[in-house]
Amino acid sequence: MTATTLVAGATGYLGRFIVAELHRRGHNVRAIVRSRERALAPGPWESPSLEGLVDDWAVGAVSNPDFVADIAEGVDNVVSALGVTKQAADPWDIDHKANLAILRSAERHGVGQFCYINVIGGDQCPAQLTQAKTAFVNDLRSSSISSQIINPPGYFSDMTEILKMAQKGRVYVVRPDVRINPIHGADLAAYCIDRLTAGEPGMWDVGGPEAFTWQGLAECAFRALDRPVKISKLPPWLLSAAISVLNVFSPKKADTVRFVSWSMLHDCVGEPTGNHTLLDFFKRHAEDNI
Ligand SMILES: NC(=O)c1ccc[n+]([C@@H]2O[C@H](COP(=O)([O-])OP(=O)(O)OC[C@H]3O[C@@H](n4cnc5c(N)ncnc54)[C@H](OP(=O)(O)O)[C@@H]3O)[C@@H](O)[C@H]2O)c1
Repeated sequence: MTATTLVAGATGYLGRFIVAELHRRGHNVRAIVRSRERALAPGPWESPSLEGLVDDWAVGAVSNPDFVADIAEGVDNVVSALGVTKQAADPWDIDHKANLAILRSAERHGVGQFCYINVIGGDQCPAQLTQAKTAFVNDLRSSSISSQIINPPGYFSDMTEILKMAQKGRVYVVRPDVRINPIHGADLAAYCIDRLTAGEPGMWDVGGPEAFTWQGLAECAFRALDRPVKISKLPPWLLSAAISVLNVFSPKKADTVRFVSWSMLHDCVGEPTGNHTLLDFFKRHAEDNI
């Protein structure tokens, strides 16, 4: 029988690859989106348009309890890549409360599996963003629904910030020796759906096929651009100072920087998967106006 899978965060970088992967594997896809028009346009950084990939559109606001109450009716599985990255909302309202409302709907409607995309090391990072995610992970783990919790490090989409600095001629790193294995959305989506369809509950740290130091990431960007390597090291205290100052004007931005700087100061390496390489990705985007 064809499985029906609900995807939250379907218009995001990762969510689009998840919808495409589910469609490729023959699932009926119900996609939660705020704007169908935006969903049909191509997504950022090679993530696909949802044209022809979605069987059932759920258009609305995930923060509206009436919209979410029966969103999981008739659904076998849920995959959530719903979370605040650059959006204006408070992460507590989306990463925690909206995901929890979807979970409650899934429980009421007898959904079998709930796959959630969290973040690697999230339970140790002091940012409010990751605390909201960790709170939802705790709710999910104590739910009666079988869950697959996936903890990735940074996506290729976020590594474009390194490419952007390299395009400007110099990359700034904090701890050049700290390691990360960034992952392409298509590779992560395939891993998530493998875990979902295997049906075993659990939690997995997963990243791309190659681990880099931050120094190595910067060198990779310069190599893709065929430009001389110019890297400067920033002292960690500068990040703390920037967070304190930013916190006065924009606590939300300060929290994002707190999250990003934590990732730059701690190894974020998961089980390697996939075959997309960062160098090829950077080469494809070397001429982009990032
Ligand atoms: N990017 C990374 O490097 C990275 C690394 C590890 C974990 N993660 C986590 O993985 C998940 C997906 O990341 P991503 O890079 O694909 O993020 P993304 O492109 O920003 O997508 C996030 C999704 O959540 C939705 N969303 C956010 N705020 C919303 C709001 N206020 N109301 C309704 N929908 C909202 C977005 O809808 P719209 O398209 O309508 O805005 C989008 O569908 C996130 O939970 C993120 O924290 C990301």
